[in-house]
Amino acid sequence: MAGGWLLRGLHHYTAQVMTVLLALHLMQVVIDGAYKAPRRSHFWFGLILLQLVLALSLTGYLLPWDPKRFLGDESGHEHT
Ligand code: HEM
Ligand code: HEM
Repeated sequence: MAGGWLLRGLHHYTAQVMTVLLALHLMQVVIDGAYKAPRRSHFWFGLILLQLVLALSLTGYLLPWDPKRFLGDESGHEHT
């Protein structure tokens, strides 16, 4: 499909960048003390969003369902 490689490539890498950005965001919120009132509910909602993104990453990673996903192997070697 035309441009499919670009969309899949973007999806693959931005999904990983998102996890890193969320970790940084969480650290910034903790360092700034932004988890305290009046933003306590904001913080808990953020934690739910984090779980949601991690769940989407795990299930999304499995979607291509090739040997890499079956084995959970990032080494690049094919096993027999
Ligand atoms: C999909 C995930 C998330 C998105 C899109 C998102 C987005 C944002 C944005 C745009 C802001 C305003 C800019 C800023 O203060 O940096 C913000 C603030 C904030 N976020 Fe998140 N966030 C997410 C996840 C989280 C997580 C995981 C936490 C912590 C558990 C969190 C807690 C907060 C708090 C407490 C603020 C207020 C900071 C302040 O007012 O000083 N968020 N978020
Ligand atoms: C926070 C949001 C999302 C995250 C973190 C995420 C994460 C991922 C990851 C890690 C993969 C595996 C890609 C690879 O290794 O090549 C994937 C595949 C996939 N995702 Fe997502 N995804 C998100 C949102 C979405 C949305 C909104 C859609 C559709 C509307 C979607 C549709 C798909 C499809 C169809 C695949 C399998 C096809 C492929 O691998 O190219 N994802 N996703």
